[in-house]
Formats: sequence, structure tokens, C-alpha cells
Amino acid sequence: MRLSTFILSELECILQEWEDFASTIEPLVDANKKELRDHAAAVLKVIAADLDTPQCERESIAKSKGLGPQAADDTAAEIHGADRVSIGFTGEQVMAEYRALRSSVLRLWAGQVEITTAGDIQDMIRFNEAIDQAQTESMARYAQMLREAQNVFLAILGHDVRSPLGAISMGAQVLLQDQTLPSQALKVALRIFNSTKRMDAIVRDLLDFSTSHLGDGIPVDPITVDLLEICHGVVEEAHTFHPDRKIELLVEGDLTGVWDGDRMSQVFANLVSNAIQHGKPGSVVKVSIRGLADEVVYEVKNDGDLIAPARLRTLFDPVKRFAIRPPNERVRAGSQNLGLGLYVVKEIVAAHKGEVSVTSSETDGVIFSVRIPRVIPHRRSND
Ligand SMILES: Nc1ncnc2c1ncn2[C@@H]1O[C@H](COP(=O)(O)OP(=O)(O)O)[C@@H](O)[C@H]1O
Ligand SMILES: [Mg+2]
Repeated sequence: MRLSTFILSELECILQEWEDFASTIEPLVDANKKELRDHAAAVLKVIAADLDTPQCERESIAKSKGLGPQAADDTAAEIHGADRVSIGFTGEQVMAEYRALRSSVLRLWAGQVEITTAGDIQDMIRFNEAIDQAQTESMARYAQMLREAQNVFLAILGHDVRSPLGAISMGAQVLLQDQTLPSQALKVALRIFNSTKRMDAIVRDLLDFSTSHLGDGIPVDPITVDLLEICHGVVEEAHTFHPDRKIELLVEGDLTGVWDGDRMSQVFANLVSNAIQHGKPGSVVKVSIRGLADEVVYEVKNDGDLIAPARLRTLFDPVKRFAIRPPNERVRAGSQNLGLGLYVVKEIVAAHKGEVSVTSSETDGVIFSVRIPRVIPHRRSND
């Protein structure tokens, strides 16, 4: 008997084994039959149909690598992955279910049929490939849903933190305007105000990080702006926060154009505060902005230690940067910044169809360069 025929004719028996196994997995210990079987029948029917479809060698290799054709609608395996997330399965438990399914189908089949012909072996290979494909689909959906849930969580957290933060900031501003307060109290109020501004920038980066992972990156709203004015504002603010640091600004060419001014300000501020924070203490931060014929080039340069090439590759990706840290450093990193600034810079620049790059050398120090084209190709139609 062909394996596909066997799967369909013995479906109930296979499902019973699946159910018996699933009921041993922690989140399903008290589950009912429907929850236990979930989409197993649909997954098996897809696999049986797949076994009956002729397939060339290339398709077979692609499937074994989990690169089978993408269905327009959600596949049974994808829906299964999503359901398993919602009942609290771990990734390992989803994998274990598939492992059990694979072994029970093959065991039951071998118990009924003597596997002798080349066709039987071909069926087994095809079955394994189809299970691999289904497992990959379930796991991809599982990982995607977890990522999305984490990002929604971060977005809500960031959003909720902003209101009390706004209230603190307002309170500090009221105190700062109170002429009757002694200078010591005013100093404290100023420190509170500055800290809320810093915190607001961190929360904004966090919100941008989480929301940009949920959709199509960071939204930009381009209007006619003067980047020189924005750049001056950022440098002045950095001076206020770090009066002891020297920041040089070099300006050249026409800097008016159609970009998202608030977002560009965020890019400039992130790069300048990085240069101050991560550069050599006491060194001069050199900022330059040049308006060329078809683009604007913004550079921030600081003295600092060489950044290793491997680190340069992950500098703009906080998740990877965090993941490749040894565990003991990750614990220590808890007291440092989240490291979202450069990620947000990269996303905003990408939304403007520009590029950001970094070089690090003994002679020139660390240089971050942003190039933004004057004409952003895909602008909103009503701009
Ligand atoms: N100007 C710079 N000079 C040296 N290292 C830098 C500079 N800017 C960024 N870095 C490195 O890149 C990392 C990521 O920067 P960023 O994304 O802004 O996160 P954060 O500043 O919160 O750590 C920093 O932790 C730092 O190690
Ligand atoms: Mg930073």
C-alpha cells in the first residue's frame, strides 16, 4: 500500500497516537480531544496529497530545506504553529510533536507493509521531506507570533511610560519657572527635567524599535525643512547637556529640502549623543553637514577605540549584538543602554531612501556618515 493511501485510510489510528503523545506535553495535560488533535488531521491530509503529487529533484531538495512553495493562504501547519503558541507550547514542544508524528506514521506503516520496493523508499523520503516542510512552517509561524507579541508588549510599555514621564517633565518645568525657589532646588528641578528628556528619547527609540518590527519600518512624513536649523538645534542641545564637551560644526551648501524634520533631528541627536557617550572622554566631536547637488551628507566623528570588524557588522542590530554577547556580559549589559539608537538611525535613514555607514580607524577615529537623497522616490501622493 502506498504511504499516502495508508495515511488516509489509517488517519484515525495515527491521530490517536498523535493525541496520546500530545496529552503528555505539559500545556495539554488537561486538554480536550479537539485541542490535542488541533490541526493534525489537516496537516496529515496535506502531506498525503503532497506524496501523490509528482515532484522533480529540485523541488524535493528545496522542501527538505524547508523552502517549499509558499501558499497564498495560511497552511494547516502554519495555523497549527499559531495555535500552539496560544496554548503556551515551547518551540521544543512543537518540534517534539512533529518528531512523534513522523515516527508513529512510519512505525504504523512498517507494521502493515513490508518496505521492499524503490517506490516504498521513495515514499519514505517524500514523507520525511513533507514533514520537514510542515515543521518549518509551524516553527516559522511560531517564531513570528512570539516576535510580534514581544514587540506589541514593548510598544505598549513604551506608550504607557510616556504619560507619567510627561507629567514629571511638566512638573519640573513648573518648578523651574518658580522664581521664589532657592538655587539648590532649581538645580534639582533642572536635573529632573534633563533626565526626563533623556528618558523620553530612550522611550521613543524603544517605541520605534518595536513598531518598526510590526509593520513596514518607521513612517516618515516629509515636508520642506531646513536641516541646518535642525542640526544647530541638536548641537546646541548637546552643549546644554554636556557643557564640558567641545562640539565643532562644519556647514556647507544648500540644506533645505523635503525630509521629515523631526526624524532627521532624531538621527542627528542619536549620532551626536553616541559620539559624546562612546567617544574618548574629553575629545572633540566633529559634526559636518554638506548639501550636495543630489544628496545631503551628515558626518559625526569622534576619537575612540577601534571597533572590531565583527562588531561593526552588528552595530546597527541590537538583537544580534545582544545575542552574540557572552552570558556574563549580557548580565552586565543590563545596567547599560539598550542599544537601540543606531537601529533607529538606520531605519529612519532607510525610510528616506538614504544610507548610513560607519568606519573606524586609528588615524581618523570613529566616523558615522549618513547620506540622504534630495528626492525621496516613494513619497506620499498628497505631499
Ligand atoms: N561614536 C561612537 N564611537 C564608538 N562607539 C560607538 C559610537 N556610536 C556607537 N558606538 C557603539 O555602538 C553601540 C550601539 O550604539 P547605540 O545603538 O546608539 O546604542 P547605545 O548608545 O544605547 O549603546 C554602542 O553601545 C557603542 O558600543
Ligand atoms: Mg546611543
